[in-house]
Amino acid sequence: MTHNAVRPDGGFGIYVHWPFCKAKCPYCDFNSHVRHQPVDQKEFAKALVKELAHQHSYSSSYVVDAVFFGGGTPSLMSGETVSYIIENIKKLWTVSDTVEINLEANPTSVESQNFKDYADAGVNRVSLGVQSLRDDDLTFLGRQHSAREALEALGVARDNFTRVSADMIYTRPSQSLDDWRSELKELLAYDLDHLSLYQLTIEPLFEINNEICEQAGLSRYEVSNHAKPGAQCRHNLIYWNYGFYAGVGPGAHARLMDDMKHVSLVSEKNPEDWKDKVTRDGHGTVIREDLNARQIADEFLLMGLRLESGIDILRYQKLSGYVLDSSTLKGLNDQGFIRYDEAQNRVRVTGKGLPVLNRIIEEISFH
Ligand SMILES: C[S@@+](CC[C@H](N)C(=O)[O-])C[C@H]1O[C@@H](n2cnc3c(N)ncnc32)[C@H](O)[C@@H]1O
Ligand code: SF4
Repeated sequence: MTHNAVRPDGGFGIYVHWPFCKAKCPYCDFNSHVRHQPVDQKEFAKALVKELAHQHSYSSSYVVDAVFFGGGTPSLMSGETVSYIIENIKKLWTVSDTVEINLEANPTSVESQNFKDYADAGVNRVSLGVQSLRDDDLTFLGRQHSAREALEALGVARDNFTRVSADMIYTRPSQSLDDWRSELKELLAYDLDHLSLYQLTIEPLFEINNEICEQAGLSRYEVSNHAKPGAQCRHNLIYWNYGFYAGVGPGAHARLMDDMKHVSLVSEKNPEDWKDKVTRDGHGTVIREDLNARQIADEFLLMGLRLESGIDILRYQKLSGYVLDSSTLKGLNDQGFIRYDEAQNRVRVTGKGLPVLNRIIEEISFH
């Protein structure tokens, strides 16, 4: 715990990775593992806290705006494990009074029994992996829950947390525009304040998300994310706004400052090797990179231009030392790919530009 804690530009968050799942979904390329023996949660929690203490040395002066338990399947953690980790974060850092503590949950009935314990531990938001409200598609996606179970889990989540988000996967094979429209409307009838809509493949279904979510009061604030006013995911906003974050657990990434340099840390991916390494060395870092100005510039654009609010050009210059060429920006503005607000020094990508975001970034960074 540090006095005179500061809030860096873009904020500071902590990501905690729980790498285990009951079954591996065939489409998933997250660092997730199935174990047929019970996982020793106490041992893993101890290692997570050890790695947190290590990353605290790079971020001790920051106020924590958000904590995100991601996976894998964090809803396989016991309430006790979650509570132990949150308590230790509070011992190490100054935590904002308005901190968002999010946990990703799979919507099976067994896991929703833990929700009250998570709320008691301090979790105040859950993001539920609903993925689909069609049983056939859930089977196709290899999910362990039915649509009814997912809706029941949503109900339990709403009873325990003020903020609830659902993850959905669309552009599923054979899904028509009308199927997706009615499925999305069905889900929004549950009065969610946030939705993350991910594409399995790229298709035109993307276009209708905004129209339907807007009708329910959720605006798109990032390529795949829609929220009611004030209900944006604060942890993910830290990534997109190019803030700093600690990241602990197998395969987790962190972005911190060391000796006035931006550093990127990546931990060992295999859960047991990660645990042994943290126990031995005090951290699981296997890759440490000092980022150069070009990398910072590219990442800042790649993250920030996903946001509806876009980027602050002056911050880009301050962070990277590069200057964006205003005639290139004006050209892209005139073609309708971006909106360039010269007075406010902001650039944002339009609906026409989003599908070609990478091309736009190339254009504006190499002129
Ligand atoms: C880390 S995952 C996990 C959360 C939780 N384990 C679950 O499956 O519900 C976060 C989200 O990423 C999305 N996702 C994972 N793999 C994807 C893929 N290949 N294509 C699109 N979305 C994907 C899913 O919507 C998922 O809920
Ligand atoms: S449960 Fe979630 S994290 Fe685990 S394999 Fe499935 S999508 Fe990936």
